[in-house]
Amino acid sequence: MNAVEIENVHKSFRGHRGKGGMVYAVKGVSLSIPSGGVYGLIGPNGSGKSTIMKMLVGLLSPHEGSCRVFGRPTTDTANRRAIGFLPENPYFYKFLTGEETLRFYGRLCGLGGRALRERVGELLELVGLKDAAGRRLSGYSKGMLQRIGLAQALVQDPQLLVLDEPTAGVDPIGSRIIRDMILELKQRGLTIFLCSHLLEQVQEVCDRVGILYQGCLIAEGTVDELTRDAHTRQVTLRDPSPALLEQMRALAGEAWVSSSPGRLSLESVFISGIRTRAEQDKAGHPCN
Ligand SMILES: Nc1ncnc2c1ncn2[C@@H]1O[C@H](COP(=O)(O)OP(=O)(O)O)[C@@H](O)[C@H]1O
Ligand SMILES: [Mg+2]
Repeated sequence: MNAVEIENVHKSFRGHRGKGGMVYAVKGVSLSIPSGGVYGLIGPNGSGKSTIMKMLVGLLSPHEGSCRVFGRPTTDTANRRAIGFLPENPYFYKFLTGEETLRFYGRLCGLGGRALRERVGELLELVGLKDAAGRRLSGYSKGMLQRIGLAQALVQDPQLLVLDEPTAGVDPIGSRIIRDMILELKQRGLTIFLCSHLLEQVQEVCDRVGILYQGCLIAEGTVDELTRDAHTRQVTLRDPSPALLEQMRALAGEAWVSSSPGRLSLESVFISGIRTRAEQDKAGHPCN
């Protein structure tokens, strides 16, 4: 059984006051996620990503079509326990500490006593906020807030995690931490549905990706399927001599397209640079 089944879902909103008309936010989207799969929805702002997620968690109902989670319609309250949700702009009580926040959400989910204490401890460990557990959220960075949001979504031990832009506004290192957490949760067998407009992030964690544009799913597939160019093939050579390159060019003739140095992503240069520097700092090298 698929964890998520979205079938021909439509959703529209009434237009702004005075302007009349309707905003067609989602137009006939169908997608499914197998149990344990990680699905990424990408699309520009306003393409309907958040609307689909809200329909899936039962905060909005579709005008047409159906959403089912573990075989149950999203109106079934049994789904509340099965789904963990990190909304797009989560609101937290800033005067609570990280630990108090998780205890609060845990109580809302019916946990108490030792089970709650243990769960909160586990989650703080998982999201790397053990040291900041006693600090108020008003002093947390954006990345820390998103991590507390992630922990909140996991408090009742859900089987499906729905993450609306989990790394929005978080710097590259914070984003990587969140990404690694998502990968860890995938390892543990959770089904994950996330959306983002940061394409690289989706590429790294998702098994399947859907591209949403103006409420329509315009492409869908594995990252490999979507990014494959059927007309070219890349060959990577280690330290090739100019003579070897010349020979290859001659051999390829008309089929030769280009040759250029291999490239690292700017992100990997950034992260490895910072990591090396941090290690040097730890070892007590002076800043130069
Ligand atoms: N509650 C609402 N009332 C009116 N229009 C809305 C509402 N929620 C979303 N929309 C509109 O629906 C479209 C899709 O929005 P949304 O799902 O938030 O997109 P995304 O998450 O991809 O940025 C946008 O045009 C947005 O303005
Ligand atoms: Mg959104």
